[in-house]
Amino acid sequence: MTSLWTLVVKFESNEYRKLLSKANVELRRCGSGVSILSWRGAPDERYWKSLGLARLFETVWVAAELSSNRAAVSELFGSLSAEYGSVIDTQRNVDCYNFLINTCIQYYGFPVLNLLDVGCGDGLILRASAARSIRIVGYDLSAEIARVAQSRGLEVLSDAEFFSGAEDFDAVVGCYSMHYFVEPYSTIGFVSKHLKHAGVWAMNFHKNIMFDRFMGCLEGAEMRRIADFETNFGRVLVAGRAL
Ligand SMILES: C[S@@+](CC[C@H](N)C(=O)[O-])C[C@H]1O[C@@H](n2cnc3c(N)ncnc32)[C@H](O)[C@@H]1O
Repeated sequence: MTSLWTLVVKFESNEYRKLLSKANVELRRCGSGVSILSWRGAPDERYWKSLGLARLFETVWVAAELSSNRAAVSELFGSLSAEYGSVIDTQRNVDCYNFLINTCIQYYGFPVLNLLDVGCGDGLILRASAARSIRIVGYDLSAEIARVAQSRGLEVLSDAEFFSGAEDFDAVVGCYSMHYFVEPYSTIGFVSKHLKHAGVWAMNFHKNIMFDRFMGCLEGAEMRRIADFETNFGRVLVAGRAL
């Protein structure tokens, strides 16, 4: 049984004070009004739920109002950046990357020569066999985890570069990143600027979380649904630029 849990709550909120009053809880870091706490020992899911926390993934629980908050997601993955590979099931994510890249290849009518990975984390895409003959570039809203990806050899876009695309990618993937639903409208807008006219964006929605809401964001946006289907990685959406 895991004995170290990560809890994300608003800095100096009631939940923060209640949790920190416990002997087994430590403040790991805080920034942008968000605090990352470590809970040692047996989990107490009932107590966490009573405080308004929900499980995000594996050993990570987050205050519900922070689960799609850019600063909170950035702090969380920044704090996990050095140990990220030991927190997730890396093989499952590599398999998902292979699936998403192959989906792009299938739906794009031309050879995929370059591909943008939105929510690249620590650069796991470099381990996907389907990525081998493609120029891969990553972007992550957490500059801290993106630096880890860069140190592993992944080319990474800065915020400014991500915000100013110029039809420079054949394809885009979002592997276990879009279900966080962080600033979906602007993310869709930036990705559409980076995609070539016939380019495709394949993304999975872990446990189908936020799939319907994300589809709703496509209404009237710069992108449209091409296809969606059920997979072992949750629902996969293939999107392209609006006609
Ligand atoms: C669970 S991790 C997955 C990382 C990597 N794709 C993998 O499979 O190993 C989710 C990552 O997506 C990033 N992320 C979430 N929403 C994002 C968005 N809208 N734009 C950029 N990065 C995002 C987070 O900061 C985090 O690093």
